[in-house]
Amino acid sequence: MRIGTPLSSTATKVMLLGSGELGKELTIELQRFGVEVIAVDRYADAPAHQVAHRAHVIDMTDGVALRKLVEAERPDLIVPEIEAIATEMLAEIEKDGLAEVIPTARATQLTMNREGIRRLAAEELGLPTSPYAFASSVEEMRAAIEGGIGFPCFIKPVMSSSGKGQSLVKKADDIEAAWDTALSGGRVAQTRVIVEGMVDFDYEITLLTVRAKGADGAVETHFCAPVGHIQQNGDYVESWQPQAMSSTALACAQEIASKVTDSLGGRGIFGVELFIKGEEVWFSEVSPRPHDTGLVTLVSQAQSEFALHARAILGLPVDVRLREPGASAVIYGGMDEKGIAFEGLDRALQVAGSEVRLFGKPEAYQRRRMGVALATGADIAEARARAKEASTRVIPVASI
Ligand SMILES: Nc1ncnc2c1ncn2[C@@H]1O[C@H](COP(=O)(O)OP(=O)(O)OP(=O)(O)O)[C@@H](O)[C@H]1O
Ligand SMILES: [Mg+2]
Repeated sequence: MRIGTPLSSTATKVMLLGSGELGKELTIELQRFGVEVIAVDRYADAPAHQVAHRAHVIDMTDGVALRKLVEAERPDLIVPEIEAIATEMLAEIEKDGLAEVIPTARATQLTMNREGIRRLAAEELGLPTSPYAFASSVEEMRAAIEGGIGFPCFIKPVMSSSGKGQSLVKKADDIEAAWDTALSGGRVAQTRVIVEGMVDFDYEITLLTVRAKGADGAVETHFCAPVGHIQQNGDYVESWQPQAMSSTALACAQEIASKVTDSLGGRGIFGVELFIKGEEVWFSEVSPRPHDTGLVTLVSQAQSEFALHARAILGLPVDVRLREPGASAVIYGGMDEKGIAFEGLDRALQVAGSEVRLFGKPEAYQRRRMGVALATGADIAEARARAKEASTRVIPVASI
């Protein structure tokens, strides 16, 4: 494996599509190997823009604009950080041999649409999932619910993330409103939803799964210790590692993760989201990239999920070893303001074993993730209490 000198004709170039907080940490890891990083997002001064060699602002769902940029920059690797990308163009770029798409263009296409990944997981791979149906009108939705899926159930636009457009439907009267919510929250002007029966789980995890080259050059699969998390309105608020699991449930989770990541292929880290009840495990969804709940690995693992992704995509060996129990707690903007400030960082860092990351986002919203508090501890209870305490000590304030 060979890496050139950044900003020279030998440079190894990575183009990041999406430049949020996960992209920022990935950029830092790539910079450590002397990789030239080109960060792209739909707005200026995004977190990864601030640490990359070059920054571009384009509409990444515009295939023509995307191709033009790739032709101008000629990256070796294209690394998506978000789902909302013109993935058909990524497939063309890959087919034309312009650049390698991480993990593969097909994986980005399948996972950007809930229908693609759900049908692959449940119908082709035979993995256990919640009962589900797809609907393109409120009538079809009602028929799916009343004809078998029942209440309570989740309604989600097929193209959305971070809980956008999602609702929990508990009774027939809620159906109409859930359809309207889905229409307004979808990423593109489409009218298709997934109806998912609610899984009554004990807890949910992200199983970070890495596909990386071994010494013989063949791709091997590695599993990080399970990450437990709590979601509110489809967005994670706290995560920790390791989540305690029975050995049977863990083996089952790893088998599901192997099957789905083998099928998606390529190299890199995947966040496999699973629901667990007793020894039973259900597949929920998968991100072919670092996962937000995996921010905890910045303190809990020898190599964070960002370091693992950087190494895996470059064809380097990985080490998924857990170092010590850790936890993360999200810091929200709490206001709709540009150029906010943060007070109390000193007090936050007085919490034993704590660390804070502020992402540097130019604009805050009430529920926008602006930073994260991280902490280690002797056990999960201690790590979680410390991360939570540190997060509450960081106070976002308006600039005026
Ligand atoms: N069928 C289900 N049964 C039980 N809980 C569910 C179900 N679907 C979703 N949830 C809950 O809602 C959360 C968000 O769902 P999901 O991951 O599908 O949304 P998302 O918009 O893709 O979110 P993100 O992009 O943050 O992963 C899940 O982590 C889980 O807590
Ligand atoms: Mg999810």
